[in-house]
Amino acid sequence: MKKHLLLIVAFALFMGSYAYVQSQSFVGSEACSACHPENYNNWLASGHPYKFSVVENGQPPVYPPEAINFEDSWMTNLGDGSHDWSQIAGVIGGYGWKARFVGNDGHIVGTAGSLYSPGYGHNQFNFYGGVDYGWVDYHPGDVKIYNYSCFKCHTTGGDTLGTWLDGVAGLGTFTEGGVGCESCHGPGSEHVASPTTSNIDKVYEFAHQDNASGGLTIDGVVQTPDPNGNDINFLCGTCHNRSYTSPINSSGGFIKHHEQWDEFVSTKHYENGFSCATCHDPHKRVIWDGDGITMNCTTCHPDQAALTNHSNDATCIDCHMPFAAKSGTTRGESGYKGDVRSHLFTIIADTNSMFNEDGSAVKDDEEREAALSPRFSCLGCHNDDPNDDIPDKTIVQAASEAANMHGETAVKEMSLLNFGLYPNPSNGPVKINFLLMNPASVDVKIFNATGQMVYSRTNDNRSSGNQIILWDGNSNTGVDVSSGYYFVKVSAGNQSSVQKLVLMK
Ligand code: HEC
Ligand code: HEC
Ligand code: HEC
Ligand code: HEC
Ligand code: HEC
Ligand code: HEC
Ligand code: HEC
Ligand code: HEC
Repeated sequence: MKKHLLLIVAFALFMGSYAYVQSQSFVGSEACSACHPENYNNWLASGHPYKFSVVENGQPPVYPPEAINFEDSWMTNLGDGSHDWSQIAGVIGGYGWKARFVGNDGHIVGTAGSLYSPGYGHNQFNFYGGVDYGWVDYHPGDVKIYNYSCFKCHTTGGDTLGTWLDGVAGLGTFTEGGVGCESCHGPGSEHVASPTTSNIDKVYEFAHQDNASGGLTIDGVVQTPDPNGNDINFLCGTCHNRSYTSPINSSGGFIKHHEQWDEFVSTKHYENGFSCATCHDPHKRVIWDGDGITMNCTTCHPDQAALTNHSNDATCIDCHMPFAAKSGTTRGESGYKGDVRSHLFTIIADTNSMFNEDGSAVKDDEEREAALSPRFSCLGCHNDDPNDDIPDKTIVQAASEAANMHGETAVKEMSLLNFGLYPNPSNGPVKINFLLMNPASVDVKIFNATGQMVYSRTNDNRSSGNQIILWDGNSNTGVDVSSGYYFVKVSAGNQSSVQKLVLMK
């Protein structure tokens, strides 16, 4: 009952914010650059802006220098090789993994219904990691029209109405090619005219117009955005998912691409309250050697970092986030290396397949939780190439060597992380934020500059994950605490941490 009420409240809030954004219009990322130059420049050097590039006046898109994508050769070999940029209305991707092309007829070049070289071959170019993997004839029989169902995740301000391409009716429209600032912050016309924090969304939890359930579904339960707002998983999950449901779809022995959310929600990291932004700076790239990861595995798992029964040839993510998913191409000779990293993290050291019987999804039931097989975690390297220096292994060998990779550590560490005070300085109320590795009884004590305790709150039982404790700026007896320096001490289990707070009332 309570759960239903919460859902209704959440939905009302969601619709409320929807009404507020509807009254605003999209202004484009360029309009944000002058006041937020750092975020703008980071974003410009990430993959998001290049998701879809509209080709105007026959001019090819310009990519940042880190993206080695062989753009110069695209028109020479696309389809039957007779096309030039004047026939191309837009490029899909071309930044990270692969490039596809929309012809002036609104179809993806080379697919069924396309006026340009249908069925000929060469409709998708693969280049992950700056290697020329060449052209493929990807699903040439499918009718692929570049409409809302396709560009809803690749553009900003997408709409099922209207059309983005002159002369081809009914494709739907968008306000900006690529994932712009307003994809994640909502329309910004009011904010640009008169910037405050109340007329722009920190996290714009939007659902796609053709998503009948209005949210993402886990085990049949629709996830409405967190009523406390700033539900980053909902935001990122809207695009980094497949079919809005939690089964992790797979085919051809690989997890399908853009399923980071589907994978992530099956992990202990998600159960512990993490969001995509626990590890990612949403404005920075991670591929092409980007520095978009703000939290390393070793920060929270020092025990495993201290003991890994393997040479330094493999890092945490080589084994725990192997390329078990595929966007454009498979690599090496193992049959277990695609081009997109998995977000499953957990490895089960056995010889069983990680997929269900018909290979359509990652197994996730009582028998086996969704987790990686040593095939991807180990054989992707070990059987990559029969002529390299890495010893080739069978799955039986890999599975037995994988067991006990970190000795008897298990996840037993107890840490208090990400401790911060907001705002600081404050004129009264303060948010005390921190992250717990395990459930713990938490004490908060606030001392003044002479060491007297002005506030305490003890034995607050908290689950693991991100925590927020609000302090209203008053002592335990309700007396207003005066301006000055204070020390906030948070203790959890046998750990504690202190931070300085400035009150300016
Ligand atoms: C004229 C300058 C200006 C422009 C243009 C501008 N902003 Fe801002 N923005 C600000 C200022 C100033 C703040 C901080 C307001 C405050 O702290 O009261 C802010 C805050 C924000 C925040 C934080 C909101 C929060 O809840 O903390 C976001 C997100 C944001 N802007 C996004 C954008 C986006 C997206 C655009 C482009 C559509 C944009 N801004 C354009 C000046 C600007
Ligand atoms: C992929 C989604 C995404 C895109 C694209 C994006 N942002 Fe953000 N942005 C976020 C999220 C999520 C947060 C909140 C992060 C948090 O609370 O940890 C944020 C926070 C901010 C903030 C407040 C905190 C800070 O970093 O100063 C500003 C300002 C901001 N974004 C501006 C922009 C601008 C300008 C652009 C375009 C150049 C942009 N964002 C593009 C997701 C995005
Ligand atoms: C539900 C959201 C969603 C839809 C719908 C979607 N994509 Fe994507 N696509 C993504 C995401 C997210 C990525 C990047 C992450 C990944 O591949 O794991 C991506 C990556 C790509 C890339 C590679 C981009 C690059 O720079 O290398 C291409 C090309 C692409 N998609 C084409 C398409 C086409 C064509 C369609 C329509 C038939 C489509 N996508 C529909 C979310 C989506
Ligand atoms: C509007 C849809 C959309 C939303 C919302 C979105 N993404 Fe993406 N994201 C994409 C697509 C599409 C790509 C592929 C872009 C490319 O490489 O061409 C992508 C690529 C990426 C990449 C790989 C490229 C790079 O720059 O390293 C990362 C990492 C990423 N997204 C993280 C996030 C995070 C974190 C969030 C939430 C804060 C988020 N995304 C929200 C659509 C989206
Ligand atoms: C912010 C802290 C944090 C970061 C960063 C982090 N983890 Fe974790 N990790 C946790 C917590 C908490 C758990 C859950 C422990 C539990 O519930 O038993 C966990 C669980 C795991 C598990 C699953 C253990 C199991 O029982 O299935 C693996 C594997 C793992 N992490 C690997 C990684 C890797 C690899 C990285 C880096 C990409 C990483 N973690 C980053 C905190 C973190
Ligand atoms: C050579 C591959 C490999 C590397 C490198 C590796 N791990 Fe593991 N890790 C494993 C395997 C395999 C397991 C499962 C062991 C088992 O089931 O007994 C595991 C288990 C874990 C677990 C679950 C708890 C436990 O101790 O069994 C965590 C957490 C973890 N690793 C974190 C990390 C972190 C953090 C790093 C980087 C410092 C790292 N791992 C490096 C292969 C690796
Ligand atoms: C525990 C930390 C952690 C969390 C949580 C996390 N990521 Fe990642 N993510 C990483 C790391 C590490 C990489 C790889 C960085 C690298 O290649 O150097 C990565 C890579 C990616 C990529 C690029 C894929 C590729 O092949 O490299 C995308 C897209 C992405 N993450 C999206 C997301 C989204 C969306 C979420 C939330 C649903 C999320 N991540 C949650 C750590 C995390
Ligand atoms: C990033 C690539 C990579 C991954 C992933 C990886 N390894 Fe290795 N492994 C190597 C390399 C390279 C060596 C050779 C080191 C040397 O010659 O000193 C090696 C050596 C070993 C050795 C010792 C040499 C031998 O003859 O057996 C064992 C055991 C081993 N790996 C097991 C594993 C297991 C189990 C996994 C998965 C849990 C794994 N490795 C994942 C690259 C990798």
